[in-house]
Amino acid sequence: MIEAKVEMLEFQQLGDERGQLVVVEGAKDIPFEIKRIFYIYGTDTGVVRGQHANLRTEFVLINVAGRSKVKVMDGLGNETVFCLNRPHTGIYLPKMTWKEMYDFSEDSVLLCLASEHYDGDEYIRDYNTYQEMVKEQREIK
Ligand code: TYD
Repeated sequence: MIEAKVEMLEFQQLGDERGQLVVVEGAKDIPFEIKRIFYIYGTDTGVVRGQHANLRTEFVLINVAGRSKVKVMDGLGNETVFCLNRPHTGIYLPKMTWKEMYDFSEDSVLLCLASEHYDGDEYIRDYNTYQEMVKEQREIK
C-alpha cells in the first residue's frame, strides 16, 4: 500500500473576460469524495486554529480569498509550513496529519473540503497522544 502524502494541489482556472472560475470535483481533482465542507473566516492574525489530527478524515484546504499558513507535523519530528495564498491551489492533508492554521490575513476565507461527516470523536487534540499513536501505528506495520 502506498502511503498518502501531504501535497499541494493545483486546480484548473477556467477564466475568461468575465473573471476566474475554479472547479474542484470530488475524487477527480482531489483524492476523495467530498462529504462535508466548512470555511473559516474572521480569524485574527495571532490566532492558531486546528492543532489536531484526524483518525479518518482527509482534507483539502484552499484559501479562496486572502492568505493563511498551515504547519503540518508527522509526529516523528518533521514539520513543514505551507502558505495558502492563491484561490486555485490547495493543500491535501491525509488522515493522521497534525495541522495548525495561523497567520490569517484580515480577508482570509479558508475553505475546507473533508472526506467524512463531522465526528468529534475522531479528532486527536493532544500532541503527545498523537505522537504515541503514530509510533504505535509504525510498530504495527
Ligand atoms: P474546531 O475543530 O475547533 O475548529 P478548527 O479546526 O478550525 O480549530 O471546531 C470548532 C467548533 O466547531 C467545535 O465545537 C466543533 C465544531 N465543528 C462542527 O460541529 N462541525 C465541523 O465540521 C467542524 C469542522 C467543527
